[in-house]
Amino acid sequence: MHSFSRRSFLHTSLAGFAAGATLAPPLLSALLAADEESRASQHAAASSLFLTWWTDPTTTMVIQWVGEDMQGTPKVTYAARQGGDGEKSASVKSHPFPGTELKVYRCELEGLTPGTEYQFRIDQQAALHRFRTMPAKANDTIKFISGGDAGTGSHAIASNIIAAAQEPYFAFIGGDLAYDNGTSPSTFLTFLQNYSKHMIDPEGRLIPLLSCLGNHEVSGGRMRRSDAASYLSVFDGLYRETSYGVMDVGDYLSLVMLDTNHLSPIAGAQTDWLAQTLAERQERSHLMVANHVPAYPSYRAYPGTGEANRKHWSPLFEKYNVDVVLEHHDHTFKRTHPMKDGLRDKYGVLYLGDGSWGKLRAPHKPEDRPYLATWSMAYHVTLHRLEGNQRFHVALEESGRVADVCMTENKRPAKRG
Ligand SMILES: [Fe+2]
Ligand SMILES: [Fe+2]
Repeated sequence: MHSFSRRSFLHTSLAGFAAGATLAPPLLSALLAADEESRASQHAAASSLFLTWWTDPTTTMVIQWVGEDMQGTPKVTYAARQGGDGEKSASVKSHPFPGTELKVYRCELEGLTPGTEYQFRIDQQAALHRFRTMPAKANDTIKFISGGDAGTGSHAIASNIIAAAQEPYFAFIGGDLAYDNGTSPSTFLTFLQNYSKHMIDPEGRLIPLLSCLGNHEVSGGRMRRSDAASYLSVFDGLYRETSYGVMDVGDYLSLVMLDTNHLSPIAGAQTDWLAQTLAERQERSHLMVANHVPAYPSYRAYPGTGEANRKHWSPLFEKYNVDVVLEHHDHTFKRTHPMKDGLRDKYGVLYLGDGSWGKLRAPHKPEDRPYLATWSMAYHVTLHRLEGNQRFHVALEESGRVADVCMTENKRPAKRG
């Protein structure tokens, strides 16, 4: 980051930057204590209501929850909170939540107005829930949260609380969401219940969840979709035919989500798709990639980890000037130097990670890993602020402390000048 812009940015923006940064430790402790208390009395019927997207986040919303069999044919009624065409209703479909007697309930809303707040109700239930669609144009700052490797423990909950306080449009978790290992639907359900409870922004809006696969979503290493049954029972709409995909938001953001060899090999069809997907999105203001296993690990063996990423994907990230790659799996906070051809290069690609939403390990030091610019052993999530053709990436520890701020700028030729 340019020294002047970094200094002026820090002075002018940091106060309002990380809402959770003002969350004093005693308050956070009280929140966590209260949460532990409520978790003790939690039961299978606790709400797992959460939102996600299969397609356009400016005009659609997918409402889902896992629960016991509902009588009749449930409906969702919804309306814009201001203006709009009045109340509408949409049907709810269900399918089994694998390995249990429970069902996944799903309602897909389409034809929504961009940049608009909605409220909805499930059947005749008293509770009113709220969400917002993303704007069609990035006229104002767009904020979202990313991280990985959450689990269901108290640190994951603390990170949820910090993440939600930032008022993001959505959260992205880059694999190892619940640690159900493809075999424990109750663990996956607990993750959803925690997310549902805490990932509500200060205005009371549910925060949609996007994600990609990690190794702990899958059992067996046989690359069969049935080995990621819990995960795909709620994310199958995004990953209908492949286990990788892209979310295009308005005309300004594309988030490419990859599978680091869990259900799809890195080489071959996925890499071919990646090349085409990046080539087609060179006009976007923000072109970001996310995957689970890191190309530049902060904890695991190097060069033994991420070799296929570096061989097949990094040259494409560099060729197509990807703004930033979000990596996870190693359970640390890390930021690399810009990298090109495996070496530091100011025109290279930045890799942020390494997945410590709720899991933690001690990273290696830069003396051992010269590609690391900064690192720490800290639970964290990253707040991304998209502003024009640049982005600010703010690493927030679970206490709300700002661990790191960096900026990336669009290097794609179409946007020069
Ligand atoms: Fe993990
Ligand atoms: Fe992992």
